[in-house]
Amino acid sequence: MSVVRTNSMKYIPNYFEKGQLTKMFFLFPDPHFKEKNHRRRVISPHLLDEYAHVLEVGGIIYTITDVEELGEWMKTCLDNHPMFEALTEQELQADPAVKLLSTATEEGQKVARNGGQTFQAVYRRIALSLIHNGTLTLLKPDHQWR
Ligand SMILES: C[S@@+](CC[C@H](N)C(=O)[O-])C[C@H]1O[C@@H](n2cnc3c(N)ncnc32)[C@H](O)[C@@H]1O
Repeated sequence: MSVVRTNSMKYIPNYFEKGQLTKMFFLFPDPHFKEKNHRRRVISPHLLDEYAHVLEVGGIIYTITDVEELGEWMKTCLDNHPMFEALTEQELQADPAVKLLSTATEEGQKVARNGGQTFQAVYRRIALSLIHNGTLTLLKPDHQWR
């Protein structure tokens, strides 16, 4: 295992190639409460394009927060992205990593100690679907397939 301490919002493309990752974890990220700072959130439509690129098809993105509004935001971004789909309840139950999300980090333990609630969103990287939420995506002739 290697550990790199870096700004993931800027440098993920410098470290990973297409389809290299099987899992990505975003555990209690900064909520950036002010609306003008929402673009700084670590889950955003633009950054999900990057995460979809470095995750293999079938790879999983795990997110958890104790801020309900951020949890809704992350879920909405993932729901609206054509290359991610939510895990089913059965799949969540069967995944050992899901059980650790709220207990395995310092922040998770702090939230649990204080009796706080947590909000998870766990999604699978899927192949690009041209029809998503009933909308047909039209591609330009020079579109680069990820
Ligand atoms: C509330 S702490 C949670 C730490 C840890 N994940 C946990 O659950 O205990 C938020 C963490 O996100 C890190 N962070 C915030 N923005 C980041 C970014 N752009 N790239 C990498 N880490 C970032 C901060 O350094 C901080 O360690």
